[in-house]
Amino acid sequence: MEKAKLETVARMLVDAQRLVVLTGAGMSKESGVPTFREAHDGLWARYDPTSLATPGAFRRNPKLVWDWYTYRRELIAGSAPNPGHHALVALEDLLPQVVIVTQNVDGFHQQVGSSDVICLHGNIQENKCFDDCQGKPTLVDISRLEWDAETGPPTCPYCRQALVRPNVVWFNETLPVAVLERAQQLSQDCDVMLVIGTSGVVYPAAYLPMIAHQSGATVLEINPSPSGISQIAVQRLAGGSGELLPLIVDLIRQLKST
Ligand code: OAD
Repeated sequence: MEKAKLETVARMLVDAQRLVVLTGAGMSKESGVPTFREAHDGLWARYDPTSLATPGAFRRNPKLVWDWYTYRRELIAGSAPNPGHHALVALEDLLPQVVIVTQNVDGFHQQVGSSDVICLHGNIQENKCFDDCQGKPTLVDISRLEWDAETGPPTCPYCRQALVRPNVVWFNETLPVAVLERAQQLSQDCDVMLVIGTSGVVYPAAYLPMIAHQSGATVLEINPSPSGISQIAVQRLAGGSGELLPLIVDLIRQLKST
């Protein structure tokens, strides 16, 4: 990575009054969590993750989808936030306002202490009733339930009819209204948006950088490959966020001390 390009991005960030950081699966790549659209290993290699993450897939084969999420949960539990996650926490001490809007369900931003994290797609460690029988969302603590895990997900302890599912947003489902509205408002109001590790093809998340761009914000990107966002980014740093974010934070510190 050319130092001059890193410095340009650091200079754009150091002046940000209202920064929004939009993160996707690439943010956790250097933690060892595979991204959504790359091939998986072993047992799950023959499944397309995007065809498992749907309400229809769960209705057709709840055990398959539940087992896929058990696999993802174990992967995340065996991984840890990377230096990129920590660098975003450090950024909060250097800039007036930093809000993270994430498509990730791994909880790594919250784990390292980022103070304002909007989770667009839910939290993989939580579960809820498939029918949201007690209202949206009807969270279920499965550690209190006894069931034969070999048969798939447990039954909701409230309605005793619907199955329990992960509390994540699937394809063909709408995002929680208040969460999406806040993300859209912040995208409209920010002066800089830093987009990290997303292919920019899943809406409405992929629309947020467009809102920022149309509202006059500077859009910056960190991604080793071009994405659906790259066209509107004034700078794309082609590399991993775990490697580049700490370098950028160091440069911002230097700029602020001179
Ligand atoms: P994707 O898997 O579509 O894209 C991951 C992006 O990360 C790609 O553009 C990679 O080039 C980039 N990348 C890879 N390694 C990286 C690294 N070390 N540093 C930075 N970037 C890196 O993931 P998302 O765009 O997050 O939604 O996917 C969006 C949504 O689609 C997910 O939240 C999920 C999925 O289906 C739902 O489950 C609703």
